[in-house]
Amino acid sequence: MISKYFIQKLLVVCCLAATIGLLSACASDSPMSTFGAQGPGAAQLEDLFILIFWAALVVFVIVGGGLVFTVVRFRQKPGDTSLPPQIHGHRNLEIAWTIAPILVLIVIAIPSIDGIFALANSPDEDSLTVTVTGHQWWWEFDYEDEDIVTANELHIPANTVVNLNIESSDVIHSFWVPKLQGKIDAVPGHSNFLWLEADEPGTYLGQCLEFCGEAHANMRFVVIADSLEGFEDWKANQRAPANTPSGRAISGSQLFLSKGCIACHKIDSTGGTIGPNLTHFASRGTFAGSILENTRGNLIKWVTDPESMKAGNQMSAQAPVYTNPDMAMTPEEVSHIVAYLQSLK
Ligand code: CUA
Repeated sequence: MISKYFIQKLLVVCCLAATIGLLSACASDSPMSTFGAQGPGAAQLEDLFILIFWAALVVFVIVGGGLVFTVVRFRQKPGDTSLPPQIHGHRNLEIAWTIAPILVLIVIAIPSIDGIFALANSPDEDSLTVTVTGHQWWWEFDYEDEDIVTANELHIPANTVVNLNIESSDVIHSFWVPKLQGKIDAVPGHSNFLWLEADEPGTYLGQCLEFCGEAHANMRFVVIADSLEGFEDWKANQRAPANTPSGRAISGSQLFLSKGCIACHKIDSTGGTIGPNLTHFASRGTFAGSILENTRGNLIKWVTDPESMKAGNQMSAQAPVYTNPDMAMTPEEVSHIVAYLQSLK
């Protein structure tokens, strides 16, 4: 016999759990939530989720309600030892509970299959195409037709389909901008396709969604949807050659070569491709996998000791200036390199 006291306790625990669940869903500003879609891809996924949610809720209420009703209504009464009516092989019931799940599955399957094809195929194959490459631990965006390579900030025109070829240079990453589209893996040696579109100009947060090593959580990015004119201006600036340094930036540009930064970072057509292309570095609002604001203070700390700003980053692990004591930089040299970086508008 279940005691009244136990049921009361159980009710309190259930109410508390429900309250916690409800309150945790109340965030008004939730840029990483799939609810409140801001592009047609994410909107289709959200609609599908809501449809399946209601379908599952109806099934849950019917099955759970039927179970509770049966348990309460037909429970064994004291002194009653007779068997309940046996329904094994009841033809009509068998037909009913075969057909009902089929109907539920049809309701779910049609929009699901429609969604799979809609998301797998670009609505506009001739639209802007960008190759996205996941690196440990930052994102590279290569606008091949435009001759633009940038990092961590994907500029797109609003209200326009953008086709993305998603690749990886090392391990498996996953590209996800929850407000705009579903997620897809970035797999080394293989190109995956994803399209996205933003309804309005704005900034949309993205994040690597596949555990990919020490700085996985710090492998973020932003999609910046510009107005059409804004996007044209951005492209024109990105296509222009890097600014010619002046003042302290001249010495910074020389240190950029002598300290070995150039081995990994490209400026114009010179330099390595291991780290982000820095030709227009100062035009970006963030850096280091989009986790740091692109300010002078952050840059000084980053160039002085990147490991303290983002544990595991390849720069502190591989760059000669951090691994070879003979190449260490004085605070003055750091400030010159930062002046150079900040001149790369
Ligand atoms: Cu890249 Cu997680």
